[in-house]
Amino acid sequence: VPRDKNPHGQYFTPAPVARLMRTLLTTASSGSVLEPCAGEGVFLDVLASSGFTDVTAVEIDPLLVAASTHDMTLGSFVSWSPPRSFDAVIGNPPYIRWRDLDETSRTEVQAHPLYKELFNSLSDYLTVFIAASVDLLVPGGELVFITPSFWMHTEHSGPLREWLLTKGAITDIIDFQEASVFPGVGSAIVIFRFEKGASTDTIRYARYQGPRRLEGELDLGNQKLFFQQEIDAFQPKEHWSLASPLELTDAMNLERICTEKEEVVRLGAFVDIANGMVSGLDKAFRIPAELWNSLPTAERAASFEVIKAAQIEPYVSTSLTRYINLPTGMTKEVATQRYPNLVAHLTQYREALENRYAYQRDLPFYEWAFKRSEHFFLNDTVKGFVPCKERLTSRPEARFTLASGAVATQDVTAFATKETVRESIAYVVAYLNQPLVTKWVRTRGLMKGGVAEFSERPLGNIPFRTIDWENPKEVAAHNAIDSAMRALLTATPGKRHAVIASIEKQFSSLLR
Ligand SMILES: C[S@@+](CC[C@H](N)C(=O)[O-])C[C@H]1O[C@@H](n2cnc3c(N)ncnc32)[C@H](O)[C@@H]1O
Repeated sequence: VPRDKNPHGQYFTPAPVARLMRTLLTTASSGSVLEPCAGEGVFLDVLASSGFTDVTAVEIDPLLVAASTHDMTLGSFVSWSPPRSFDAVIGNPPYIRWRDLDETSRTEVQAHPLYKELFNSLSDYLTVFIAASVDLLVPGGELVFITPSFWMHTEHSGPLREWLLTKGAITDIIDFQEASVFPGVGSAIVIFRFEKGASTDTIRYARYQGPRRLEGELDLGNQKLFFQQEIDAFQPKEHWSLASPLELTDAMNLERICTEKEEVVRLGAFVDIANGMVSGLDKAFRIPAELWNSLPTAERAASFEVIKAAQIEPYVSTSLTRYINLPTGMTKEVATQRYPNLVAHLTQYREALENRYAYQRDLPFYEWAFKRSEHFFLNDTVKGFVPCKERLTSRPEARFTLASGAVATQDVTAFATKETVRESIAYVVAYLNQPLVTKWVRTRGLMKGGVAEFSERPLGNIPFRTIDWENPKEVAAHNAIDSAMRALLTATPGKRHAVIASIEKQFSSLLR
């Protein structure tokens, strides 16, 4: 958001989120609470309805102060010096990068006693709010804020993190990851509770795993919405990691296994990765069974098989969907003459097809909108496929699959081994289905609100277990996995399980 559109970093907290944050407060309702940037007063509403009466609020925007039914002090929190401390601070501080801050606010930040020690001209405005709020807490007081999570790991927030650990401890974290908490804000969001003067060994950690767009009440006890566990407390001079020790160990384990010459070997160096082709209207191009059965051979040849994300099964997939694929560049007359049945079928959707996004070309209704990576797909090499987005809250492992002769559309990412690579694509796919790989993806991959994203970069980042071709045992394991994968392509459903077990057994020695 350009600075002139939102100079004060105004993103208002949805009421269910404010209520959730209120449950982290341990201060009794007789205690004193500060809301340092009250906005429309959602926290003031929540505090009032839980019986809090000693509530102080500050807000810089005169329009919001005037519109509020609550008492708010008009002014900037950064230069505000109240004559008292507070038992609790709760709120959602403004996030504004230094370069987007107006001159007055910059001068104010520079005049703050903690400027230079804790923040500087690389810091975000929110770090000032965190530090200044902690300063105003009584011993034993608590701070509950919702913020983007970047300050927990960026380098220039290091001094603030170290300072916080000398003043007390983070006791609770609710991690929304990339779920959309504030409409229009793309950052990963966390709620945290800090207690002044406390020390702790563990942090109560809850990871949100509900729908990407929050809906309804957010009850921490709801196991569908939150996965709760304890993680190690943050330590001075160490990274603040939000993964559980177990998850981290798994991810680090895989990286160790895949390390050669002190570097983690990554999949991107071994496979070419392609996004799927775009028909622009899948339902028109899909060939219904009745039509297929009645098609002459010449028309059948103008089709290919597509693998849809929903059809992807781990290891190998055999159920594919036939799509129309007429040669490009034909006039309508030629197309109709050569492919009468297919063109007749597409004609039923003509209006919608003509309204497709045309990628800046003259797009006949009977052609695909964008045959992205056409040469990659339309050759005989066997490929691996993965859904572009895989929800990992409802399944234990991401699905990677081998499918021969299949084309991907936008919902699926495809990959094929580079020419010089000795590991077979079947081996690569089998490897990616190992639980350790998904464990790595969960903590180190690109996760957005419980959904793993497999576009080129994140897929290419996955550590890869190469085969040591000098080691006969490893070569044998590779070849056994490769033939088991081929057997799976034709195995009856009853046999599938045993074959997969044999593959997993091979990997149990390779992934040690
Ligand atoms: C992210 S919004 C959150 C508002 C409210 N706490 C909520 O959660 O709905 C940040 C608020 O801080 C206010 N603000 C920005 N700079 C401020 C400052 N220096 N002092 C006090 N309030 C400020 C903005 O006007 C905005 O209302």
